[in-house]
Amino acid sequence: MNRLFLSRLWLDALTAGLLLLGFAYWWLGNAIHEAAGTAMFLLLIAHNVFNRRWWGGIPRTRREPRSLFNLGVTFALLSAVLALLVTSVLISNALSPFLPPWGGFTLRQIHSLAAYWVLVIVAIHLGLRWPMLIGVARNLFGIKTPNALRMLVLRAIALGVAVHGAWSCIVLGLGGKLSMQMTLDWWNFEESVAGFFVHCAAIAGLIMIITYYGLKLICRRLERRGDPLLGTASIAIAQRVDQHG
Ligand code: HEM
Repeated sequence: MNRLFLSRLWLDALTAGLLLLGFAYWWLGNAIHEAAGTAMFLLLIAHNVFNRRWWGGIPRTRREPRSLFNLGVTFALLSAVLALLVTSVLISNALSPFLPPWGGFTLRQIHSLAAYWVLVIVAIHLGLRWPMLIGVARNLFGIKTPNALRMLVLRAIALGVAVHGAWSCIVLGLGGKLSMQMTLDWWNFEESVAGFFVHCAAIAGLIMIITYYGLKLICRRLERRGDPLLGTASIAIAQRVDQHG
């Protein structure tokens, strides 16, 4: 197992954790929220420095569904993260003594809108890398052969996460948050802190599952139609697992 790649995955997990922490503004307070957000942006810069070869390879992107979808998702993620970064600076309390008073209500709404979209797009980003992450987990646990019972248990867990995620979307009012609707139903952190994070993680899980199985379904359909480009897509995923495993 490539140690550097494994450390990168730990940093990715930390970045995802900081993103989730950022949603708990009313639990953490402003100072911790701004500190966690700054650390997340620094880790995201490092993440993209590590992945600089991917950016350099964009002109050679294969014209097959998975690669093109991956390209679109990464650019959507970049736009949402940049919107989050710009609004963070404009409404920051820590930076307010040095900046003109730009931070109005609309900017705060755009900040929160960008944050929820980042959550959704990061989950799609992870769903696209799920085969690679499963490969890494297999290597770590020394799993060499397929096992029907293990697969059944994992699929049952995925179904449970998906159902919980659908319920969490309703509980947290995700539709309204992604369409910038005004709501007063903030999470009550005095009632439960863990519950909030479980709901956020379940939403991310649901989106990852939809991305992974959705893409698998599309690829199978195209494969049945005999699309030669899909063979290359599956080989690319397998190569990436081998490369790092
Ligand atoms: C919480 C935020 C994020 C998480 C958890 C995350 C996670 C991951 C993981 C696990 C990988 C594969 C392993 C690796 O290369 O480290 C990856 C690859 C990548 N990520 Fe992210 N990522 C995040 C945000 C971003 C952002 C904001 C961008 C830029 C817009 C980005 C761009 C990329 C690129 C270009 C790759 C390589 C793609 C490939 O090789 O197919 N990621 N990400």
